[in-house]
Amino acid sequence: MFKIEAIIQPFKLDSVRESLKAIGIDGVTVSEVRGHGRQLGHKEVYRGREYDIDLLPKIKLEMVVPAARKDEVIKALVDSARTGKIGDGKIFVYEVIEAIRIRDDSRGESAI
Ligand SMILES: Nc1ncnc2c1ncn2[C@@H]1O[C@H](COP(=O)(O)OP(=O)(O)OP(=O)(O)O)[C@@H](O)[C@H]1O
Ligand SMILES: [Mg+2]
Repeated sequence: MFKIEAIIQPFKLDSVRESLKAIGIDGVTVSEVRGHGRQLGHKEVYRGREYDIDLLPKIKLEMVVPAARKDEVIKALVDSARTGKIGDGKIFVYEVIEAIRIRDDSRGESAI
């Protein structure tokens, strides 16, 4: 199993959720987060210098998926979240050791 964490532009959430639904990915955690990448958030020139104005609002999605579906999920995320402009976001992938459904104690891929 892999955990796929995607940080996306908030206005892309609906389109990303549609694309996950279309490929049958059901379990997802969504959080409102703030962050910046290499442009350090919005920048504004003031007296000849650039100042960091703020951390920008983003949406973080976390999905744990079967190993065999990792690449398909990443493709769906990239295709639905990309505008081609800076700030489109990032995807991080982690190996998952275990998943447990609390209700019935099912384990591994049958728990996700
Ligand atoms: N190395 C990182 N570690 C953790 N979070 C990150 C990292 N890079 C980006 N993020 C998160 O992803 C969000 C979007 O990053 P962003 O798309 O601006 O990355 P970038 O590397 O600056 O790429 P681009 O040049 O396309 O803007 C950030 O606001 C931050 O929340
Ligand atoms: Mg950036």
